[in-house]
Amino acid sequence: MRRGRYWCACFSLTLIGAVSAQNLPDGEGRSTVAKVCGGCHEVSIVASQKMSRPEWADLVDQMMDKGAKATEKEVQTILDYLSTHFGKK
Ligand code: HEC
Repeated sequence: MRRGRYWCACFSLTLIGAVSAQNLPDGEGRSTVAKVCGGCHEVSIVASQKMSRPEWADLVDQMMDKGAKATEKEVQTILDYLSTHFGKK
């Protein structure tokens, strides 16, 4: 029975991951954000914020300190995406 439960937990984790990525609006950079920012917490934590580009840049820096992995190019893509969809007006 143990083994059955393990599979079950694994399956629901995958489902949660897929659902939370859908909280992000469509657009260039969406998959990069889902990949880089969805590893430690749900990406919905990202979608709940509204910040200016410099503020996002600060936050992404903080996430890199915590261990987020992205190339310089991916960081730019992420910042473009975040400031377009979750920017301060
Ligand atoms: C290596 C793990 C890791 C990765 C990857 C990561 N984060 Fe985080 N993030 C954290 C931790 C740890 C916290 C703080 C604990 C919490 O609130 O869950 C956090 C918190 C946050 C918060 C809430 C901050 C607040 O002050 O309320 C936001 C927004 C956020 N992350 C955005 C991002 C974005 C955008 C990315 C992608 C660039 C990202 N995270 C990638 C670990 C990570």
